[in-house]
Amino acid sequence: MATDVRFVLEESFSNEISARSISKQKGEFASLLEFAAFGVVESWPRRVLVINLINTSRFGLMSVDLTSTVQLRSGNEMPVMGLGTWLLTRDTAETVLYAINLGYRLIDTSSDYGTQPGIGEAIRRAGVDRESIYITTKAEETDDSYLRTISNLKELGLNYIDLMLIHRPPATGAGEDLWEGLIKAREEGLVRDIGVSNYSISLMDRLIEASGEIPAVNQIEWSPFGYSWKMYDYCADKGIVIQAYSPLTRTRRLNDEKLRRLAKKYGKSPAQILIRWNLQLGTVPIPKANQKRHLEENIEVFDFAISEEDMNLLNGFNEYYSSLGWSLQYLEKAA
Ligand SMILES: NC(=O)c1ccc[n+]([C@@H]2O[C@H](COP(=O)([O-])OP(=O)(O)OC[C@H]3O[C@@H](n4cnc5c(N)ncnc54)[C@H](OP(=O)(O)O)[C@@H]3O)[C@@H](O)[C@H]2O)c1
Repeated sequence: MATDVRFVLEESFSNEISARSISKQKGEFASLLEFAAFGVVESWPRRVLVINLINTSRFGLMSVDLTSTVQLRSGNEMPVMGLGTWLLTRDTAETVLYAINLGYRLIDTSSDYGTQPGIGEAIRRAGVDRESIYITTKAEETDDSYLRTISNLKELGLNYIDLMLIHRPPATGAGEDLWEGLIKAREEGLVRDIGVSNYSISLMDRLIEASGEIPAVNQIEWSPFGYSWKMYDYCADKGIVIQAYSPLTRTRRLNDEKLRRLAKKYGKSPAQILIRWNLQLGTVPIPKANQKRHLEENIEVFDFAISEEDMNLLNGFNEYYSSLGWSLQYLEKAA
């Protein structure tokens, strides 16, 4: 069984701190960091460093796998990667069943994807323990989120949801009512954790201020071509896990020449490099795949590691790109 440690170094590292002095800090934890899946310590001097150390019981970078988890603020654990199901409408139940049999444990859905009934069917047919599957689903911004939780449960045919998100902020306000509805659903045991999606920092601040409740997760578009250190640092500081949606850029950047060169160097596909980048960052990718060969390929990411130098190269791809056709939704409008 995987053991996960969310290890937060809250020393006030200034931005100027050198890699050398970080290495000294690292010395103290050498036995842990030697096999840390996430190499942020060496490369990014940041004020707050969050390092997810995975599988501390097994020691070894390669031992991170689909059963590895990250810990949420609540103490509950979430798999390190999952399966997205937007447009996964071709043989949904069959495909999700195939994914579960391959070892996928986190499935992302939403009331508006039309995949909840198929996912529920797949879980039942797989005959796996409900506790071993992690379901993320969502309420729309126009919903009564409490009632939506109940109808999602019905569609899934489950008696609890692991993580329920506000799909996107409403047109006005920060979604305080939606948040209250999710808090109520959690209090009644209908959901285990609650979070948001497509939220900016200031909107999360407003929710937190109104309720005292910090989201467990912000699910946002996230790939080397489009991400935000500001958001990364904010989430690390608050203990919010980033779930990375459209991590494959909906295929749009898979032919990028720089990415292809890197993929060739590692003998991996561009998609695998994008997924692995997320894993090493400690963000949780949820690539969607309807095709079996894609489902298989996307989990063959635990037998290699991207070097620190190449992580930096990938980080340099950032152009705040959004494959959804507009700018990254969580960036502050003025930014
Ligand atoms: N919260 C939100 O607002 C929000 C928004 C967008 C997405 N999401 C979630 O995040 C999930 C993932 O994002 P996404 O579906 O937008 O895009 P994505 O995962 O970046 O890309 C999915 C596309 O990549 C293809 N693909 C998968 N594996 C591949 C591989 N190894 N090589 C080449 N192509 C591959 C898929 O093809 P096939 O299907 O043909 O295999 C599909 O066309 C969604 O399904 C959804 O669950 C959430």
